[in-house]
Amino acid sequence: MSQAFDVLVIGAGPGGYIAAIRAAQLGFKVACAESNSYDDPKGEPRLGGTCLNVGCIPSKALLASSEEFEKVSHHVAEHGITVGSVKLDSNKMLARKDAIVTKMTAGIQFLFRKNKITTLKGHASFVGKTADGYQIQIDGKDAGTVTAKNVIIATGSKARHLPNIPVDNVLVCDNIGGLKFDSIPKRLGVIGAGVIGLELGSVWRRVGSEVTVLEGLPTFLGACDEGIAKEAHKIFLKQGLKINMGVKIGEVKADKKGVVVQYQDAEGKAQKLECDRLIVSVGRVPNTDKLNLESIGLKVDERGFIPIDDHTCATAAPGVYAVGDVVRGPMLAHKAEDEGVLVAEIIAGQKPHIDYNCIPWVIYTDPEIAWVGKTEQQLKAAGIAYKAGQFPFAANGRALGMARADGFVKFLADAKTDEILGVHIIGPNASDLIAEAAVAMEFKAAAEDIARICHPHPSLSEVMREAALATDQRALNM
Ligand code: FAD
Ligand code: NAI
Repeated sequence: MSQAFDVLVIGAGPGGYIAAIRAAQLGFKVACAESNSYDDPKGEPRLGGTCLNVGCIPSKALLASSEEFEKVSHHVAEHGITVGSVKLDSNKMLARKDAIVTKMTAGIQFLFRKNKITTLKGHASFVGKTADGYQIQIDGKDAGTVTAKNVIIATGSKARHLPNIPVDNVLVCDNIGGLKFDSIPKRLGVIGAGVIGLELGSVWRRVGSEVTVLEGLPTFLGACDEGIAKEAHKIFLKQGLKINMGVKIGEVKADKKGVVVQYQDAEGKAQKLECDRLIVSVGRVPNTDKLNLESIGLKVDERGFIPIDDHTCATAAPGVYAVGDVVRGPMLAHKAEDEGVLVAEIIAGQKPHIDYNCIPWVIYTDPEIAWVGKTEQQLKAAGIAYKAGQFPFAANGRALGMARADGFVKFLADAKTDEILGVHIIGPNASDLIAEAAVAMEFKAAAEDIARICHPHPSLSEVMREAALATDQRALNM
């Protein structure tokens, strides 16, 4: 098979599939190559990347199931609801998650057909460049060489593994195994108190596992605003997560009886954690090793990322772009999607722009943690004069009615101009509430703009308004 395309996208994750759709919308002849079949029963490469198959979507499905279980088991009583014995069928919970993933990957197949995008099933690697464009070798079901004038590399990332800790995804797992335990582990160990460790740790704790998290750094959630991280730590400990900070991981042994992790605690004492399963969630590394980038004169940086122009995602090879987890910046699906759109529009001659400062972050624990813009510690380090306003969900009628009154919203605004510099939330529906802050920051709004906008009552969004008012000590309900 030998075909020519205007745009070839390598990788069908959120960066790649969105880039392919946008490029097709703009009138280009587009193909998208994908090699990973994930758990496809027929072994066919599946669209959607890490996010749909072994990341955002399955983890959020399990988070939702485990939240329901915890709610019925422990929290409906205060509403006057009595239930009998509550049981969880973990196989059904996993089957529900798998069905959602299958539905969503099928949705992308539909979108590809609708937009006349050719799916190339197989591993793509560069061969070189001719006058017609870049030559790309496809190894797999659609084996052959294709030519493309423009190439968008969206090959994503995989879990970083620790030296001498082999991951079998049965006993010692990364995100892949941690999303499909065949039974609920009585004792679960987690290495790394980052986003995956806290989200998956929460899932399995809620459905009955005793969860111990071992974190190398002495500070909890260092990327978050300090006040939010402190509150989160307090709440997670209260929920029953055991979190040991400042540890040094030693030998890990796994056999039929379970997993034993030797480690040094923060005081330097030798300790061991015995558990039935272990999740290793210590960050992710870019997928750049098998692209044969050298054939087109490209080199990766010391951490394996593809160097790009910060504004255009262009690599050093003309017509070759890279987006998503394979390049600098946060490893987030919505960041990858926005870069995919940006690159497609740049190829079409448009002048799109991404403000990376306005990309929101969400950690889907309960309560959720969400933020956009700068933290207090970043503002202090940069010597920027700011004012902070904070308002608790405990003073909000809707949150109390929902029995979800943990947490608060914090607004940070420029001391002189009142421009919003950062918004930080720990509380119910933080993932949705943060969107208001992202919109406000994109429009360079002031805290007073939010404070003057009518918010529905009773709603959680009133906490946003009150926190904005609080930057001028004008909160009305506190
Ligand atoms: P990926 O989604 O990794 O997709 C890249 C694709 O390229 C893969 O399918 C891969 O098989 C394919 N590929 C690689 N090399 C080749 C090749 N040579 N030829 C053909 N195909 C190739 N982010 C959020 O924003 N919100 C969340 O809630 C969230 N939850 C997450 C939960 C977990 C457990 C994990 C692991 C991640 C989560 N993320 C979340 C991060 C998110 O999944 C990634 O940021 C996002 O998937 C990156 O998109 P991408 O398109 O760059 O790469
Ligand atoms: P992470 O970077 O969020 O956290 C890794 C944690 O492991 C850090 O706290 C780090 O200090 C710790 N660590 C590293 N090496 C260690 C060691 N040797 N011993 C003990 N601790 C060690 O990485 P994680 O959780 O693997 O997630 C990867 C990425 O995936 C995230 O950074 C995020 O970009 C993305 N993601 C996003 C989600 C979301 O948006 N809700 C959900 C899940 C993942």
